[in-house]
Amino acid sequence: MIHLDPARLDAWLTREQARYARMRPRSRAAWQQGQQHWLYGAPSHWMRRWASGFPMQLDAAVGARLRCVDGIDHADFCLGDSGAMAGHAAPTVTAAVAAQLARGATAMLPGAQAAAVGAELARRFRLPYWGVTTSASDANRAAIRIARMVSGRERVLVFDGCYHGSVEEAHVAFDDAGRVVLRNGIHANAVDHARVSRLVAFNDEAALAAALAPRDVACVLAEPFMTNFGMIAPAPGFLDTLRRLTRESGTLLVIDETHTLSSGVGGHAAQVGLEPDLLVVGKSIGGGVPVAVYGLAEPVAQALWAQVPKVDPARVRQSAHLGFGGTLAGSTLQVAAMHAVLHEVLTADAFAHMAAQAEQLAAGARAVVAAHALPWHVAQLGARVELMFEARPPRDAADVRRGRNALLEALLHVYAMNRGVLITPFHCMLLMCPATGAAEVQRFVEMLDGFCGELKGSVA
Ligand SMILES: Cc1ncc(COP(=O)(O)O)c(C=O)c1O
Repeated sequence: MIHLDPARLDAWLTREQARYARMRPRSRAAWQQGQQHWLYGAPSHWMRRWASGFPMQLDAAVGARLRCVDGIDHADFCLGDSGAMAGHAAPTVTAAVAAQLARGATAMLPGAQAAAVGAELARRFRLPYWGVTTSASDANRAAIRIARMVSGRERVLVFDGCYHGSVEEAHVAFDDAGRVVLRNGIHANAVDHARVSRLVAFNDEAALAAALAPRDVACVLAEPFMTNFGMIAPAPGFLDTLRRLTRESGTLLVIDETHTLSSGVGGHAAQVGLEPDLLVVGKSIGGGVPVAVYGLAEPVAQALWAQVPKVDPARVRQSAHLGFGGTLAGSTLQVAAMHAVLHEVLTADAFAHMAAQAEQLAAGARAVVAAHALPWHVAQLGARVELMFEARPPRDAADVRRGRNALLEALLHVYAMNRGVLITPFHCMLLMCPATGAAEVQRFVEMLDGFCGELKGSVA
């Protein structure tokens, strides 16, 4: 443990924020203008989450670089919080999307590439049947609805510290006394969480077994390697136990690979041989076009079709009221974008390159941390890296809560932006894209070295 004086950290943060504002007068003016008509100053309320006090305004982002309207170049490890894992403005995606826009973006009809994309999803993620939504949140909601339809049960079990988008059932967390509460005090939205949610600490096999024993859980919705509360690795054997217990209790296993796609072409489940009943992937697979997919194992699809037949011979016009999907879901534009991303951008070779860059970055960060004798650790999952201000990897969200230093996190983020490095604004997550190279990695490692040096010199 080192003692970091919060008052001095706070004063340093204020200085970095002032420097950030001085460097970005145009962004600041745009932010002030945005207050007039955007509910939270920008088109999305998430955009106000930057520790700098206000978001920079984007001028252009290409590959692994992002330039703000004040002309500052950034090595971008945020990559749109994973939405741009394929790299900004990947030329093949841009060309494919532009070509499809010119031929009709959305028509409530499948296009010529639909069959190829369906086959590629099945090949990569090892599930035979797929559907499309416009966001990962929506795909998770579809997966939950299907799980409820086929199981006849209502509850959804999630792990403490999870994030699965705007999915009501997953908005739960443990408080310090171990009670289930709404995460970040989020509004309950008329959902009775005590009835529809169940919460378990990640890696707690006994608690998981007890939570599934009543056989009233429709599905477990989980990341196979938690990435949204720092990074929490599954303990050896935990995923096998999760799979065994869900099978034994007749609970469906929904694996959300939206972030863990960083493991490789088929995501983390494929890499470790985990066989989910349903699988969700979103954000990056459209190369910036809003799209996500959900996949179903054969028995789940059969059970769904038993309720809502694939084709009903008694009807001329089929009912499509399944309660999920959307007008623009499955559009020719989305499918064209996915076709380019899956076939030409996020390929096995690209993942190998991205993982190699992540390894370099993690190794460089570990060397810096060691050189400054800081009790921190660096986690890596394929193309994704996380710096955590704790010496030991956490086993669960409670460990993360104990070790978290929000002030230090905020400071590192602004310090990094002032030196041309963009880190995802939530915890300290860094993502590589196919265009990430040695220059970006070096810039991050040098920035971290400077930060740690100043930290030890001034506030420790
Ligand atoms: C694991 C996971 N699932 C789902 C989502 C929701 O994605 P979206 O905001 O695109 O709906 C996120 C977003 O961060 C996520 O990390």
